[in-house]
Amino acid sequence: MSSESDTADEAVRGTCDDASICKRFAVSVGYWKDPYMQYFVRQAKERKAPEINRGYYARVQGVSQLLCAFLKKTECNCQIIKLGAGLDTTFWRLKDENLLPKKYFEVDFPAIVSRKLHNIKSKPPLSKPIMETHNGDSLLIDAYSLDSARYSILGADLRNLKDMEEKLKKVGMDPQLPTLLVAECVLVYMSPEKSASLLKWAGDTFPTAMFVNYEQVNMADRFGQIMIENLQRRQCNLAGVEACQSLQSQMDRLLSNGWEAADAWDMIRVYSSLPQNDVARIEKLEFLDERELLEQLLLHYCISWGTKDSLHLGLAEITF
Ligand SMILES: C[S@@+](CC[C@H](N)C(=O)[O-])C[C@H]1O[C@@H](n2cnc3c(N)ncnc32)[C@H](O)[C@@H]1O
Repeated sequence: MSSESDTADEAVRGTCDDASICKRFAVSVGYWKDPYMQYFVRQAKERKAPEINRGYYARVQGVSQLLCAFLKKTECNCQIIKLGAGLDTTFWRLKDENLLPKKYFEVDFPAIVSRKLHNIKSKPPLSKPIMETHNGDSLLIDAYSLDSARYSILGADLRNLKDMEEKLKKVGMDPQLPTLLVAECVLVYMSPEKSASLLKWAGDTFPTAMFVNYEQVNMADRFGQIMIENLQRRQCNLAGVEACQSLQSQMDRLLSNGWEAADAWDMIRVYSSLPQNDVARIEKLEFLDERELLEQLLLHYCISWGTKDSLHLGLAEITF
């Protein structure tokens, strides 16, 4: 790999800290509960702006709603694969809520996985739930992967599908099981060809599945251009921004890569469909000066999802 693409990948890996630090800050203010984030990242040195916190709230609640709807439809008789999982804590939260799927997989670059594993190994609140759900066989663990009965994490590049599939199969991925794949702020860092291949691989591999994707949208306008420039200033290139032009382009990418049904909502729409009593609660947490800025932010992110349903579970009915 050239040193230029090394630097680009390093910047992409850096986004993992940004996401987790923002999530931890929002949790510390009370936007949602996550007792596990604190074991992965330090508390932010400075406050994050209220519109950023509300944006993260909408993102976490939105993705979580679709995930819970999938678990309900499949009665947890399924597997979840988090692509570009970063320091995500969903596994631990599902365990607490008694909502674990048959198996939960996480994939990220080896460097991120090795950091996450270090935290898991050294912090009992993270390792205990993995041990408690394990079946007594010895745990398989090395520098870049861990495999237990209900939770696996592995280091792989999402652009190298053959290698990723081999690694997932080794830790028990079962293509016949209903499968939820989640990519939260991940595809935008890959070229359109690579993200299309990933979606196609998922569509071809799992006959009964749902793909949930959270990322930027409406990027061709002025606000979108500023978002791109801000990231570029930090050497972070949104290589996949072409697919983020509109809700339609997000849906088209799913439909043209093997998914039977697709939908896409911008985050303004998601935010206004979240349980309004909880939205009213979080809106009281911090004074929001710039409602317009929040609306602009929400308008430039979306959740898109696609389904395939050979078992006729009614996956295409899942919505907000
Ligand atoms: C913005 S972070 C989001 C992390 C997490 N999904 C969240 O929402 O908190 C993007 C993550 O995708 C991972 N990622 C991006 N491109 C990847 C690739 N080609 N292979 C593996 N992981 C990748 C990065 O390392 C990073 O952890």
